Amino acid sequence: MKKVNLSELQAEFESSLDKLVLHSDISTEMLKPMIYSLKSGGKRLRPLMLLATLAVYDRNLVSYGMSTAIALEFIHTYSLIHDDLPAMDNDDYRRGNPTNHIQFNEATAILAGDALLTDAFAIIADDEKLKAKQKVDLISQLSLDAGSRGMVAGQLKDVMANSEILTIEELEEIHALKTGCLFNYPLKAAAIIMNMDPKAEKLLIKFGKSFGIAFQIHNDLKDIIGTPSERGKKNQSDLELNKATYPALLGQEGAIDALNEEIKKAKIILKRLAKLTENPFDQLEVFLKFLELNALKVEKYYE
Ligand code: IPE
Ligand code: IPE
Ligand code: MG
Ligand code: MG
Repeated sequence: MKKVNLSELQAEFESSLDKLVLHSDISTEMLKPMIYSLKSGGKRLRPLMLLATLAVYDRNLVSYGMSTAIALEFIHTYSLIHDDLPAMDNDDYRRGNPTNHIQFNEATAILAGDALLTDAFAIIADDEKLKAKQKVDLISQLSLDAGSRGMVAGQLKDVMANSEILTIEELEEIHALKTGCLFNYPLKAAAIIMNMDPKAEKLLIKFGKSFGIAFQIHNDLKDIIGTPSERGKKNQSDLELNKATYPALLGQEGAIDALNEEIKKAKIILKRLAKLTENPFDQLEVFLKFLELNALKVEKYYE
């Protein structure tokens, strides 16, 4: 079975995204702050996870996932613009560039985020390749994972948890919501698009859950042990804001152990999935490589 080529999928994603935003009739003043954050070196992990999952099954399915992949990246991008705002994490840099509100101004950043969020749903609705039922399911699930029972709920818990002593279960819930939901969605979306068997779908979603938690532990550890040039933003900001993080709760070593444990769990799930479906789902392991602590640049994994 041919390996899934992530750099090829990323190139397809970038050209579809460009086509969609650059050929739209959005006014220049609106488009500028949207594109500023959409095209500033995001790793595209969430959309690639959707496209790679489809490609594992059938390379021809990738085009059916493209609008959903773009919609998901729109929502991820909005979540970062708002996350960096002074009222939230108050970050001046993201991906090595000034954050949206520093580059433009606060009102523009809020509105660019609003536009990305709102436009995301129509990108799926307007896709002529998908069946009506698939579109409704994809949109409804995206709204669930991004909204008041998903990512936004996690962001609220994250903001409210500052300076509080949390239990590990409470912390895990924040991570599962604020980060896990948007990593779970691409796998749920893939299952909707390919009409997956419910047993396999359950395992796929379990993988997304483990990946999301591991991703946030990795992100929190990098805040402490990463360098600003590698991260594209200043480090130690969680500490400054008294954020509830795994390293804060378990110590650095404990957080590293928790990360490795979650990665191990995710690998086992992929093995079970590959066995159950007789498909090479272990190819999704490439995403776990990003979570190794010495992984400085993700580009080198997109081969
Ligand atoms: C960062 O996500 C925000 C978190 C949920 C921790 P990514 O690291 O995927 O962000 P980009 O898009 O690649 O910059
Ligand atoms: C970001 O989490 C999560 C979302 C935007 C949903 P963090 O605040 O921990 O991530 P960074 O460190 O700003 O990327
Ligand atoms: Mg935050
Ligand atoms: Mg932040």
